[in-house]
Amino acid sequence: MKNPFLLKGYISDEYFCGRKKETADFTRFITNGNNVVLVSPRRMGKTGLIEHCFRQKAISKNYHTFFVDIYATRNLQEFVYKLGKEIFERLKPRGKKFVENFFSVISSLRPAFKLDEITGAPIFDIGISEIRSAEITLEEIFKYLNASDKPCIVAIDEFQQIAKYPEKNIDAILRTHVQKTTKTTFIFSGSQRHILHNMFFSASQPFYQSSVLQSLDAIDKKEYVVFADKHFRRAEKVVDRSFIERCYDLFEGHTFYVQAVMNQLFSELDEYENCTEKKVMKAIRNRVFSYETLFSEILNLLPEKQKEVLCAVAKEGKAQSITSGDFIKKYSLHSAASTQTAARQLLEKEIFMRNENTYSVYDRFFGLWLQAYYGDEKHLFLQNSSKK
Ligand SMILES: Nc1ncnc2c1ncn2[C@@H]1O[C@H](COP(=O)(O)OP(=O)(O)OP(=O)(O)O)[C@@H](O)[C@H]1O
Ligand SMILES: [Mg+2]
Repeated sequence: MKNPFLLKGYISDEYFCGRKKETADFTRFITNGNNVVLVSPRRMGKTGLIEHCFRQKAISKNYHTFFVDIYATRNLQEFVYKLGKEIFERLKPRGKKFVENFFSVISSLRPAFKLDEITGAPIFDIGISEIRSAEITLEEIFKYLNASDKPCIVAIDEFQQIAKYPEKNIDAILRTHVQKTTKTTFIFSGSQRHILHNMFFSASQPFYQSSVLQSLDAIDKKEYVVFADKHFRRAEKVVDRSFIERCYDLFEGHTFYVQAVMNQLFSELDEYENCTEKKVMKAIRNRVFSYETLFSEILNLLPEKQKEVLCAVAKEGKAQSITSGDFIKKYSLHSAASTQTAARQLLEKEIFMRNENTYSVYDRFFGLWLQAYYGDEKHLFLQNSSKK
């Protein structure tokens, strides 16, 4: 393993930090037949947790597991395509018989069954428009899952996406299938808390009370520090625990951001090298600026008023009462009304995150980059260094 601080994919327990309670709860819910709604801000570790749970013996031995990310899907056809393809890909290693059975039950997907010209291996190849009736295909997929030799778990990541499909009643159609199936348990995960809450916990919605809610917060600080310390030591890189703690604090433990900085630091330190504060700061800076092209593009595409409000919130870090006279004066904004409108638009674009009355920049690296861009790098340089 070149760098133990993984930024994508899942390898094993070794590179997965903490989450013992979440893993135990999750596994218990699933093995007791409860569907789970897993919610957290983006990049907190939902996908990682699902993958980790799928590797637990209680699950891997007794269930077939499927994972579909529907973030990029725009309608039921594309949803059905993704689900069908995932099931096919998971079955493929089990041999010809399974693949044939798959296409005999899900006959509407049969045109997708092709053989690779070179290797002769079965492949799934169908144009999305060739899926004539997505509802029928969906029904067949559920029929297939129900007839499976082992119970199945289907994780649908970024589930809130179905609320954006143009077809009506998708959630009602899905709910009917989900409810009828006896052999399949579902995980619905996503980052848009209010949409998911509304879908699953509002009495007028089809999914009402069909699942248990699991929210995912940051990994426990102590556990993270022990984890990072272990990996630095193992590679004979000497990093004071207090540096790890301060990086954790800088991002409030938000998993991806802490991991990305640790990954950077690990890559910049030589074996036996003693890490200094300056090196930590450089690693943070390098990581943040590695996204500079992307961040400048986002900034350039924003209308002026949104840019001004974004800059104000970024400078503030966590901004409260952004429509108050004080805030507007401090950052020379136009008016309370225009600030409110800009903030709403930035929330819709997921550039802002709101927690009650407090706004912050959703992508923490973007927030730090903006602070640097607007000439104030204090947050980049671990403000608490004096507390050490
Ligand atoms: N328990 C963990 N230990 C170490 N790294 C983790 C852990 N959980 C997640 N990560 C890392 O954190 C990052 C974000 O995790 P993940 O992709 O699972 O988040 P997510 O909530 O699914 O994000 P998104 O909302 O963007 O889909 C990844 O780089 C992943 O490798
Ligand atoms: Mg994810």
